[in-house]
Amino acid sequence: MEQYDFDQVIPRKNTDCAKWDASAYLFGSNDVLPMWVADMDLPIAKPINEALRRRTEHEIYGYSLTEPKSVVEAIINRLDRLYNWKVKPEWVQLTPGVVPTLYTLIRSLTVPGDTVIHQDPVYYPFWSAIEYNGCQVANNPLQLVGDRYQVDFEDLEKQFRPKNRMGVLPSRVKAMILCNPHNPVGRVWTKEELTRMGELVLKKNAVMIADEIHCELLFKGYRHIPFASISSEFEQNSITCIAPSKTFNLAGLHASVVIIPNRELRENFKTTRKGFLPTCNIFGMVAMEAAYREGDIWLGQFLRYMQENLDFLVDYFTRKIPKIKVIQPEGTYLVWLDCRELGLNPSELEDFMNRKAKVGLDHGIAFGPSGAGFERINIACSKSVLEEGLQRIERAVNEL
Ligand SMILES: Cc1ncc(COP(=O)(O)O)c(C=O)c1O
Repeated sequence: MEQYDFDQVIPRKNTDCAKWDASAYLFGSNDVLPMWVADMDLPIAKPINEALRRRTEHEIYGYSLTEPKSVVEAIINRLDRLYNWKVKPEWVQLTPGVVPTLYTLIRSLTVPGDTVIHQDPVYYPFWSAIEYNGCQVANNPLQLVGDRYQVDFEDLEKQFRPKNRMGVLPSRVKAMILCNPHNPVGRVWTKEELTRMGELVLKKNAVMIADEIHCELLFKGYRHIPFASISSEFEQNSITCIAPSKTFNLAGLHASVVIIPNRELRENFKTTRKGFLPTCNIFGMVAMEAAYREGDIWLGQFLRYMQENLDFLVDYFTRKIPKIKVIQPEGTYLVWLDCRELGLNPSELEDFMNRKAKVGLDHGIAFGPSGAGFERINIACSKSVLEEGLQRIERAVNEL
């Protein structure tokens, strides 16, 4: 069996990579260690590289089919095998990224002035996807209870009765965007939580958009449940976005999937995407199929490595930087750090991490008001890089 060496450090500087090559611009200096955006500094699964190499031997890269049969089959088989979710081929469309898919979905479901709910702190493009389409965000902030984030169901119900900008006329809630597993707080929502959210969405005649891009990135003991798989009513009232890009580190190939079981919603999306949102490119399709069919050996080893990194990080903060509290993630490879005890306001905290500690993290405030005082660190890197990042933070905290 192929053994992957995740301890090796692969230099990424000068490869036009956002994580490393935009650091000077983003963080104000070249010697910041980038631990931000959700991509990995680790080697990918060999079968993916081999499939890409085989494809380049053909030498012609013309237009492709929009949903090649074997790619769709690989997606459907995987969802069946992992979750016993039976997806029909006609429900599946390929897209060149989950973010552009979300923008297009909101356009297809709303008219300007409508409202879309989400739960902050949350992946920041959710905010812009809603606002870009002229809609209002209704925010249902997640509640940190002890050291675990929870949904505030009472508030969620209230968010279904929004007023428009003038605070006078009611605005209709057309959709809710669910992030599962949740970026940045790392929750993997339970069946009970999903059911309560889904029932509210159904009752209020809105549609659930389930962004499940992180669904295969799970820590020990956690299980992902696709929202749509819970019941046929949820299936007909939801749209699911997945992609191999987070799990198998293929973000630069722009390959993602949208699953729309409801015929009307599906046709609506097809019409809206016309001329704007292409299918994914041929290399993305090839990589997706190889990942979904042959990526499991790599994935098993990668998830074990992530568990070790997480355990190392938790131990490090507990013993050496106790002022920063780790919100233990259940999924994703992103760890949400509670830095409120440092007593810094959001811009001071940003400055502290970038200029004093010299680590490039995602600053909590970017994820919404509830993110103030928090930072997000990406642990999908070699152990030595992770340790270096933690040492930098430790030194800076000791000097505060
Ligand atoms: C919840 C979530 N959705 C979407 C994306 C990005 O998707 P894509 O690169 O396919 O646009 C990310 C990336 O981190 C994410 O965390």
